[in-house]
Amino acid sequence: MTTSQSNAAGHPADRGDCHPQTLLLLGASGDLADRLLLPGLGRLVATGDRPNLTLLGSGVDDWDDERWRRRVADAFAAAGATGPRVKEVVRTTCYLPADVTKEEDLRRLLSNCHDQLVIFFALPPAITAKAAAALTRIGVPPGTRLMLEKPFGTDAVSARSLNEVLARLVPEEQVYRIDHFLGKSTVMNILGLRFANRIFEPMLTSTHVACVDIVFDETLGLAGRAGYYDGAGALIDMVQSHLLQVLALIAMDAPPTLAARDLRGRKAQVLRATRVWADDPATWSRRGRYAAGEVNGKRLLGYADESGVDPNRGTETFAEVVLCVDTWRWAGVPFRLRTGKGLAARRKEAVVTFKQPPRVPSGLIGYDQPDRLRIGFGPDRLGLDVNINGPGNPLELGQAHLVADFGPGGLPPYGEVLRGAFDGDPTLSVRGDTAEDCWRIIAPVLECWRAGAVPLREYPAGSWGPEDSLLIPVPGVATGG
Ligand code: BG6
Repeated sequence: MTTSQSNAAGHPADRGDCHPQTLLLLGASGDLADRLLLPGLGRLVATGDRPNLTLLGSGVDDWDDERWRRRVADAFAAAGATGPRVKEVVRTTCYLPADVTKEEDLRRLLSNCHDQLVIFFALPPAITAKAAAALTRIGVPPGTRLMLEKPFGTDAVSARSLNEVLARLVPEEQVYRIDHFLGKSTVMNILGLRFANRIFEPMLTSTHVACVDIVFDETLGLAGRAGYYDGAGALIDMVQSHLLQVLALIAMDAPPTLAARDLRGRKAQVLRATRVWADDPATWSRRGRYAAGEVNGKRLLGYADESGVDPNRGTETFAEVVLCVDTWRWAGVPFRLRTGKGLAARRKEAVVTFKQPPRVPSGLIGYDQPDRLRIGFGPDRLGLDVNINGPGNPLELGQAHLVADFGPGGLPPYGEVLRGAFDGDPTLSVRGDTAEDCWRIIAPVLECWRAGAVPLREYPAGSWGPEDSLLIPVPGVATGG
C-alpha cells in the first residue's frame, strides 16, 4: 500500500515532477550513502517519477566528479536501477569536496544549487548539528527541505536543541527526520491490516492482548561500522528509532486520514504515553555483547575485537526493554522490544499474543498455546497462529499457522522516504516532538546501564543471545514466543 499524496496542510502533494529539484547529499562519500541512500534513490529515479532531478554529492573526501559518478553508477546498478532517467542522473551529477561545518564551504555548495533544494544530512549527529547551525548563519533558499538521518541528536537535550536550530531554518513540515522503517512496505502494511479490516482492530486492546513483542534479531555483525555503531549501541541504533516507530503504529488509535498531521499526531500521542515498565529499567531491560562465534557457518570476530571498537565503552550489540503504553486501550499490556546482532537466526517480526479464551470447554483437550498475530518485517508476511481441532481425535486441539506473504514493496525503504521529501509529504518522517520523546523513553535505560545497574552479558555469536535470549517473562501474563 502507499501513503496519501497529501502534504501536512492537507493540500495535494507538491509533486516534484512539476519543477526541477536538486538533492544535495552531505556525507556523499560515506557508507550510508553507498549502502542505502543511493540504491533507494536509483530505484526511485528508475520509476520515471523524478524527471527533473539533479544530484549533487558532497563529502570530506577529496573526490572528483569522475570518481563520484562511478560510485553513483555502481550503487544504482547494484540496486537494479536502469533506464534513461538513471543514466541522466549519473551523467549530470557532480561532487564538491566540503567541510560542511564551515560557512564558506556551505555557501559554495548552495551557490551550486539552483532548483528547489532538498538537503540530505547523511552525517553523524554532532556534524549534522554543526552544519545546521552554520546554515542558520547563511540561510537556505526558500522552500528548502531538510532530511536528517538517524540518530536525531544524541539524547533528548541535544535533539531539542537541534530542533530549535532547524526551526530557525525552515518550517517543521519541511524537516524530514528519517526512519527508514517507516518506508518499509510491511511497516506501512500495519495501517492497512489494522484499519481496513473489522476483525483485528477491536481485538487490539488490553481486554484481549496479553503482550506485544517487537523483535529484530539479526545474524549480521558489526559489518565494518564501528565508527558509528560503537558510539551508539543496539538500544540507540534500533530501539530508540525503528522499534519505537513500529510500536507507535501498532498501538496508536485510528487516524482519520493518512495525511502527515493526522498520522504523526496519533503516533505522537501514543509515544507520549510510553515509558519503561514499572519505571524500573534495572529489572525490565537487558543488554549483551557478542563474543567470537560462528553464524551460518561463518566465523565472526568478537565485537570487542573488531577494528575501531573500544571494548571499554561496553557498547551493547543486544538490547531488550519492556515498555508500557499508559493509555485506556493498552494499560497493563507489556510491549517487549528486543534487537541483537550476531544471533543464530534472523527473526524480524512484531507478535501480538492474545490472552487465553475466558474458558476452553472441558472436553476440548490440549490447549497450550495462545493465539498470535505476527507481522513479519523480512520476510514480509502476515501470520496468524490459531487453535483449531487437530487431525485425528477431533476434540484434540492443534495450532495452525496461517501465513500470507506480502512480497516486497515497489521501492526500497530509502526510495519511499526520499519520495516523501521530494513530494513535500512528511507523513513518513518523524516529527520533532516525537524524536525528543523517543529519547525520553529510553533515557532511564541508558542511565541505568551507564551506572552499571544491568550487567553487559556476553553471548557467543551464532547463539540465541544472552541466556538463550528468552524474552523477559512478565509475571501473571501468558506470553511465550
Ligand atoms: C539500521 C541500523 O538503521 O537498520 C542497522 O543502523 C540495522 O544496524 C538496520 O542493521 C536494519 O534495517 P534493514 O532495513 O537492513 O532491515
